[in-house]
Amino acid sequence: MKVVVGITGGIAAYKVPELVRLLKKQGHEVRCAATGHALEFVTRVTLETISGAPLYSDLFASGRTEHISLKDWGEMLVVAPATANIIGKVASGIADDALSTLLLAFSGKPVIMAPAMNCEMWAHPAVQRNIETLKGWGIRMVGPEKGELACGVSGVGRMSEPEAIVAEVNNLSPFSSHLSPQKWLVTAGPTYERIDSVRFIGNYSSGKMGFALAQALADAGAEVELVSGPTSLTIDHPRVHLTRIESAREMYAAVTEVFPRCNGAILSAAVADYRPSECADHKLKKNGSEGMHLDLVQNPDILATLGGMKTDKQTLVGFALETDNEEANAQYKLEKKNLDYIVLNSLRDKGAGFGVDTNKVTVISRDGRHTESPLLSKKEIAQLIINTVTT
Ligand code: CTP
Repeated sequence: MKVVVGITGGIAAYKVPELVRLLKKQGHEVRCAATGHALEFVTRVTLETISGAPLYSDLFASGRTEHISLKDWGEMLVVAPATANIIGKVASGIADDALSTLLLAFSGKPVIMAPAMNCEMWAHPAVQRNIETLKGWGIRMVGPEKGELACGVSGVGRMSEPEAIVAEVNNLSPFSSHLSPQKWLVTAGPTYERIDSVRFIGNYSSGKMGFALAQALADAGAEVELVSGPTSLTIDHPRVHLTRIESAREMYAAVTEVFPRCNGAILSAAVADYRPSECADHKLKKNGSEGMHLDLVQNPDILATLGGMKTDKQTLVGFALETDNEEANAQYKLEKKNLDYIVLNSLRDKGAGFGVDTNKVTVISRDGRHTESPLLSKKEIAQLIINTVTT
């Protein structure tokens, strides 16, 4: 796909070279257009070198009508970062520089914007009204995300990570779904191990990470078999097939049945390692003042089973939730369970782990490469994991 990346003057412009690099890595052709203010944050030389094409930034460069030729060339326009200024200009039909002129000329083709600004600017009614106007015209917004902003405060206004923007490009692109026609398996959520007809052993997993992985894989063109333990989450994507299970043994049965037909699997479920050896079919009654003793037996290790089934053509990714000796434990699990990658989640990191919307991970590959993420939304983490394990 031929993508024009439009850059405006926000600090997040420093992430644009990475965005361009990722787009090119996924087979897109890229040309950049920048405002004068954008070039205060990222240089012409960087943009031209990474994109491999001349930068468009001057509306009045000797007799050229670049905004017209660039709008004819481009199949999609991505504005990242999109400041309050460019959003306001487009909403008002103002074309007073190279990028705003290109934006008005770029009709009938997909436009994505990744807004980035101070949180109070973002909340201003004028900005919100302009965003609604642009959305009403079909412009797709990615972000902004909540987090620490360049001005030192924390709030909604941070530009989405390049991975999230690339995923939206792929999502809107009819041809560049780079994982099509692959099939991937994802496990999510907790498992419940029944004690009796009303009680179970469970854990705090929300399923958010697994659902975000399924969504990101499907957005990249893959067919997804999502096998999830009990969760209130839902997913509505034509390429995601959701099987809901309750116990580890039910997950084992569903997963081992489908895995041989998959190109890869990402097992993010928090599977209970043990289950009660017996399950009463009625509610167990209190037994006077005596304590209660549960006899537990081990559940099958689903990930290790897939590691044993795996062919050379399949990619297997596991998660490791650790509290100490994190890297060594993750490395050990990777080797023991015959994985290609392991995603290390440290419970020591604030904002990472169960229940929250954010996560912070390190993806370790079989050959020892480490990809470390900052604290990101689970959606962005999912995209980072998919980009790492599918390229
Ligand atoms: N897993 C699994 N089946 C199990 C237990 C775990 O498929 N019965 C998978 C999880 O989905 C995750 C990975 O194994 O991808 C690691 O889970 P974790 O609980 O961190 O590790 P364990 O192997 O169970 O080891 P331990 O609990 O001793 O740390």
